[in-house]
Amino acid sequence: MKGLLPEEELRGDIKEMKKRIILLGPPGAGKGTLAEMLQEREGIPHVSTGDLLREEVKKGTDLGKRALRYMEKGALVPDKLVVQLLKKNLSQDSFFVLDGFPRNLQQAKILEEEKMRIDAVVNLRVNDETIIFRLSGRRICRSCGKIYHLVNFPPKKEGICDICGGILYQREDDREEVIKERLKVYREETQDLVKFYKEKGILEEIDANGEAEEIYASLVEVLKRNGKEREN
Ligand code: AP5
Repeated sequence: MKGLLPEEELRGDIKEMKKRIILLGPPGAGKGTLAEMLQEREGIPHVSTGDLLREEVKKGTDLGKRALRYMEKGALVPDKLVVQLLKKNLSQDSFFVLDGFPRNLQQAKILEEEKMRIDAVVNLRVNDETIIFRLSGRRICRSCGKIYHLVNFPPKKEGICDICGGILYQREDDREEVIKERLKVYREETQDLVKFYKEKGILEEIDANGEAEEIYASLVEVLKRNGKEREN
């Protein structure tokens, strides 16, 4: 089961950190980048509904074909399909950094109905200019999924992944007109979650406009705060 890590295998600072984490933020906020850093450095598995959906599209499954119709327009995929996929990848025992879920109040309520314990929800605040710059320059490895940026995090060799030598590609939904629609959907459907989790008292907010390393340090600090208390 993806997302499951036995207690004895926890490493680094992870024992002191909150381990069931939701990252919220607009497209391009850096959710995937930070989740990958947490996975590599702390061993907390990264679960991205966007990646899971793209995997289904790549495999040409029924679910993937249905999801693609929404994804290419920048719209949300119906809750039923996303939840079906997520249930295969999360369990009550999992530790995880959830990236891309929940996306609306209905999905947040589904997590509650499933009694999925969430330790922290971190909202990444980013301005629109940064979002457009980050998304238009993003490139991803077709083989291992490593995220690059043409200016911010360029590969050593143009178009080639430093890690596995795979080919880098640009996501279909990173075209300007689709980015605009994704931002609109974020404002109309996802932003309400900030208020929802604030009222529950588990929301943390960080400024995510700066350097990735600085933002990562703020994230870890936030996750460590009271982390021990919560574990006990
Ligand atoms: P999804 O894949 O979740 O996309 P998203 O939320 O729009 O977020 P992104 O992946 O675009 O951005 P990110 O915040 O992860 O940024 P990243 O770290 O890559 O969803 C795609 C689609 O799937 C949706 O539109 C929807 O159709 C569907 N979907 C997914 N989940 C769903 C759900 N729950 N319900 C319904 N539908 C769902 O960074 C971006 C770029 O910036 C990269 O190039 C990176 O290198 C660079 N960068 C990152 N941080 C920094 C930094 N600090 N400094 C400089 N550059 C940086």
